[in-house]
Amino acid sequence: MTALAGCGREQSTLNPAGYDASSISLLFWTMLSGAVVLWLLVNGAFYYMSNVRPGAVAKRYARHILIGGGIILPVVVLTALLAWGLSVLPDPRRPGDGLVVRVTGEQWWWRVEYWPEGADTPVVSANEIRLPVGQRTEIHLTSDKVIHSFWIPALGGKMDMFPGRDTMISLLPERAGTYRGQCAEFCGASHAWMAFAAVAMEPADFDAWLEAEAADAVAPLDEAAQRGQEVFLSKGCGACHAVRGTQAVGLVGPDLSHVGSRKTLGAGRTGMTLENLEAWIAHTEDLKPEVKMPSYDLSGTDLADLAHYLNGLK
Ligand code: CUA
Repeated sequence: MTALAGCGREQSTLNPAGYDASSISLLFWTMLSGAVVLWLLVNGAFYYMSNVRPGAVAKRYARHILIGGGIILPVVVLTALLAWGLSVLPDPRRPGDGLVVRVTGEQWWWRVEYWPEGADTPVVSANEIRLPVGQRTEIHLTSDKVIHSFWIPALGGKMDMFPGRDTMISLLPERAGTYRGQCAEFCGASHAWMAFAAVAMEPADFDAWLEAEAADAVAPLDEAAQRGQEVFLSKGCGACHAVRGTQAVGLVGPDLSHVGSRKTLGAGRTGMTLENLEAWIAHTEDLKPEVKMPSYDLSGTDLADLAHYLNGLK
C-alpha cells in the first residue's frame, strides 16, 4: 500500500525523478532560501533595534535603514530571484522526441493511448502512464465532461484537461521507478480517488512493455479463468469494457485487455490484487462514490472466478 500513500516519496515534488521536476525542486529550494535570508535580515534588524540598541535613532541613520533595507535590498533580491526563477522555470510545451501519449480525463479514471512515432493506430490502455527514461514524451490531454488536471509531481508540473480542447505537457523522466499521479482539479465526488501509477522505464523495457500492451488479451489460462471469462461476458461487462480478442468491445469504461499487469485498480484506488479485485467488483460504489460502474452482487464462486480471470489478463 505504500505505493498509494498520499505523502510518500512517490508523489512528491521534492523527490524529483525527471528533468522538469528537478527544475521545479531547485526553484522551490532557492526561493525558500531567499525567503529565509530576507526573513532573518528583517527580523534580525527588528531584534537589533528593539533589544540590542533600543531608543531613538538618529534621523539620517533611520533614513538609511528605511531606504536601504526597505527598498533597495528587497528590490535587488526579489528582482534577482524573479529573473533567475523565470530562466529556470521549465517549459511544459517543449516538443517531445517522438512518442505521443494521449490522455482523456473521465469521471474518475484515465483513458490512455500510446502513439509511437509514425503509428496509424494507438495502443489503448488506461489508468497507468508508462514513459521511457531519457526521452521527452508529449502528453496530449483532453477531458470528457468536466475539467481535470494531470499531475505527476515526481516528473513535472501539472496541466489542466478541458472538455473539447487539447492541452499538452511534455515530460522527461530521468530515473526509472514507479511514481504516483493524481488529478489536481476538483472534478466531482471521487476526485480524490482519481489517481494513477506513473512508471518510468528504461527504453528497452518500455519498448518490450508497449509491444505486450499492444497485443490482444491472453486466453484464459485455466478452468477457473475460463469460468471467470464466462461470468464477464454473461453479466454484460463487455458493454462498457473492452478485452481485446473477445466479444467485449465496450468503450465506456477502461480497456481491460491487460488489467492484471497494472500496479493499481480503480485508477489508483487500491493495489492490484485478487482480494482487491473481488472487493472492487462487489463494492465499486463504496470504494469510488458516484462511479458509473455499479456494484455486482455475484455468488462467491462467480466473484472469485471473475477476479481470477481479470487478474490473469497480464
Ligand atoms: Cu479528475 Cu479531479
